[in-house]
Amino acid sequence: MENYLSVKIRDNLYYVGVNDRQTRLFENMWPLENGVCYNSYVLTGEKTVLMDTVRINKVDGFLEKLYEVLDGRDLDYLVIHHMEPDHSGAIDTILELFPNVKLVGNKRTKDFLKNFYEIDNENFVEVKEGDTLDLGDTSLTFYMTPMMHWPESMVSYEESTGTLFSQDAFGSFGALSGGIFDDEVDFEFFKEDTVRYYTNIIGKFSQQVQAAMRKISGLEIKMICPVHGLVWRENPQKIVDLYSKLANFETEEGVVIVYGSMYGHTEKMAETVARALGERKVKNVRLYDVSKTHLSYLLADLWRYDGIILGSCTYNNGLFPPMETLVETLKKQKMKNHTIAVFGSYSWGGGSLKALQEFAKGSGYDYIETTVDTKSAPTNEDLDGLKKIGNDMADAIIAKRK
Ligand code: FEO
Repeated sequence: MENYLSVKIRDNLYYVGVNDRQTRLFENMWPLENGVCYNSYVLTGEKTVLMDTVRINKVDGFLEKLYEVLDGRDLDYLVIHHMEPDHSGAIDTILELFPNVKLVGNKRTKDFLKNFYEIDNENFVEVKEGDTLDLGDTSLTFYMTPMMHWPESMVSYEESTGTLFSQDAFGSFGALSGGIFDDEVDFEFFKEDTVRYYTNIIGKFSQQVQAAMRKISGLEIKMICPVHGLVWRENPQKIVDLYSKLANFETEEGVVIVYGSMYGHTEKMAETVARALGERKVKNVRLYDVSKTHLSYLLADLWRYDGIILGSCTYNNGLFPPMETLVETLKKQKMKNHTIAVFGSYSWGGGSLKALQEFAKGSGYDYIETTVDTKSAPTNEDLDGLKKIGNDMADAIIAKRK
């Protein structure tokens, strides 16, 4: 009877990753409605090589699989592609159980090991760009991919099989529910979690992602083994293309409107803008209440679509706090290739429109200048101005695709 603990990927390569459906928030911030997996792999040729570990809360299931695959053999190497604790959490445990294991990482990895875990191991094998680790019957070549996702991030490539161990790159949120390989699942289910993972976790480093993708573009990649999400063995180009699209800010036709409203007037303003876009047959309009929809989902859609419209009531002479959080996040995201318009409201004093205008002007997006700033409840003149915002945005995104 087949054993369902670990999964054989091919001769001498096994999947020993684990699912986490208990943790609610990734990095204690991003919702995990579909869970997440921490992938780990073992090479079992002349040398035994473990590729990354898992978050410590899932160490038991991970060790069970690892022992099964090793089948009594010692562990020769642990390759540490990335030190974020969702993958490095069990390194200490591995060192205790396999004291002869050699840790493989780069100079930055060594620093992180010391700072996170007080590990200063004499068996550390330091690798740098282009170095090859000879494993007898096969070998691994290392490529540094700094800031995809952390400074020490690196990938390794097994040339004899065309396998890329890509750490966070090409990963996704979402636990693996039965299907582990791309040809065992309907990717449409994973696509949203992949876009959310990219835009939430890696997106702000898109320049570095582009550089890393250029670096690996010369490799003949037959299989991608990331530390999150599916193992890509049938069509790895599919996930490469999706990551390339996201990293290069290739947007789709549509507009995302996000509003902050306490008592409904700013919401009414947003609905008016949305209706104008609907009348112009802009078919992908997404309208969100910034207080209700988590930043994680807002970022994914804001990244995806051409147009961004932000509207906020005034709070303490400035932006409504949830809108302020969104704006400050967008400043750091460094997204490109968008068109933006804004509107504000206040009852006395004001301040939200000015803050949004300042953000829009400095955003680097194409800015449709607007001055609708409603005092308490929108007047007919305000509503006309809001319809104009919708129409001007429709003109801009339709023109973009002509
Ligand atoms: Fe999955 Fe950046 O760690």
